Amino acid sequence: MVAKKEAPLLVAEEYYQISQEMLDSFPKYRLPLPVFRYCDNVAQLQLFIAREQRMTNEQVEEVHALAKEGDLFVSREDYPIYSKHIIKQLDLILSDRNLKESEIAYICVEALNTRLKEYIEQPVKIVADKLYADTLVLTEYLIADPYRIKSFLNRLNREHSLASHSVNTMIIGLWLLFQTKKGEKAVERKELDRYALSFLMHDVGMSKVPSFILQKTMPLKPEERDKINQHALVGAKMVQKLDLGWDELVQAAFEHHERMDGSGYPRKLKGDQISKVGRLCAIADSFCAMLTKRPYAEGKDALTAGQEIAGDPRYDPRYSSIIRNALITKEIALKEPEAAA
Ligand SMILES: [Fe+2]
Ligand SMILES: [Fe+2]
Repeated sequence: MVAKKEAPLLVAEEYYQISQEMLDSFPKYRLPLPVFRYCDNVAQLQLFIAREQRMTNEQVEEVHALAKEGDLFVSREDYPIYSKHIIKQLDLILSDRNLKESEIAYICVEALNTRLKEYIEQPVKIVADKLYADTLVLTEYLIADPYRIKSFLNRLNREHSLASHSVNTMIIGLWLLFQTKKGEKAVERKELDRYALSFLMHDVGMSKVPSFILQKTMPLKPEERDKINQHALVGAKMVQKLDLGWDELVQAAFEHHERMDGSGYPRKLKGDQISKVGRLCAIADSFCAMLTKRPYAEGKDALTAGQEIAGDPRYDPRYSSIIRNALITKEIALKEPEAAA
């Protein structure tokens, strides 16, 4: 493969050097955004093909040759178009060397949100497979450098929806998982795959709870509370149908409302009867729920939520203290709701 030129420094601030893989993913004759070429003689970028302009065969060839040489660019101003495009084909983040970590985090979060919404609307294996495929893109990206999870912490969504809550839980859950392995053998790829999908799908059973119950601001009737509590079992059955044979997937769905003192549901498990993924998911799930504005409560700031969970003996203290300590020492900083993008 031909080594690409480095983008000139000033250019790199305002433009992306477009990769061949990215170009290949666009419609062949009409590009969804304007592209610019770098002209050595004047040392600047010039518009080469306008957005949606019908290209000739010669122009198509020329555009590909320029991309191969590293002389083709798109403006960072067109980032919304660019990112929307990548969301549909997430594996492009793995080959695109021009995106910043914060941009990749945004794209991954949007992609997983979209895939989860699709699965919640249509919970069948073929739709789950797309969610699974994008989860593997994320884990491939993270395993190369676990510190990358930090840029996801700023992407927590403070508006509640089942999909955004699930993605938030995955972000906090994976960050916690990496922390639990500090100083030990690093997280393995297979383990990361399993945990990521398990966190993402922990609440899929909620999609079967009637929305009028979820919207209620009044105290729930016992039969309504029962319907909600059943989501753990319903979700476990849903993920079992995916036939991945991963214990963690079922455990996260079934056990994320179990509590260390046996006060949780549905089986009132205690302490180490609850799996590691179940205990981590319980913490990530509750922490994320506390940050988010709900029909019955305002969102809390991260430190308050972290301290509340760390002080609550129903959560495994080995893990709940990790979040609180990282917030106190400012090892991590979560954007508060008004500042969140
Ligand atoms: Fe739940
Ligand atoms: Fe949840």
